[in-house]
Amino acid sequence: MATIVVNGVERRYDGDPDMPLLWFLRDELGLTGTKFGCGQALCGVCTVHVEGTAVRACQTPVGTVEGQKVTTIEGLSPDGNHPVQVAWRDLNVSQCGYCQTGQIMQAAAFLKDTPNPTDEDIDSAMTGNLCRCGTYPRIRAAIKHAAAKGGKT
Ligand code: FES
Ligand code: FES
Repeated sequence: MATIVVNGVERRYDGDPDMPLLWFLRDELGLTGTKFGCGQALCGVCTVHVEGTAVRACQTPVGTVEGQKVTTIEGLSPDGNHPVQVAWRDLNVSQCGYCQTGQIMQAAAFLKDTPNPTDEDIDSAMTGNLCRCGTYPRIRAAIKHAAAKGGKT
């Protein structure tokens, strides 16, 4: 029996420890804000935080996060007003929206460690998060917008 703290709530898991964390979050906990795309750690739509670090939930065996703190988009802030979420709204970043929770989770973890990023820093940190709608310029602008407002939690 594994215990995982998801969005501040202790959850138990006693299935196959090799199952992707993404299935646990979506199918067992109903946290469907985290999306499935490639399933191969290539697109970033499944990005969540494990102990504050951005990881790809599709390629993270659930057994490897035993005893750790996992944060999904549903738990990033109590009211949807994390500075990155505010910046995303201020700049109307989303288009179809499918990639955006992963983008936001990646950006939030990045800004925590790099509060004053350059364009190169942003491009490097976000390069693994794909957007088929091409919202990259607005993503970059929103990250800078959040940073200017003190983008850390
Ligand atoms: S679904 Fe996990 S990186 Fe694409
Ligand atoms: S907003 Fe459509 S894939 Fe990114």
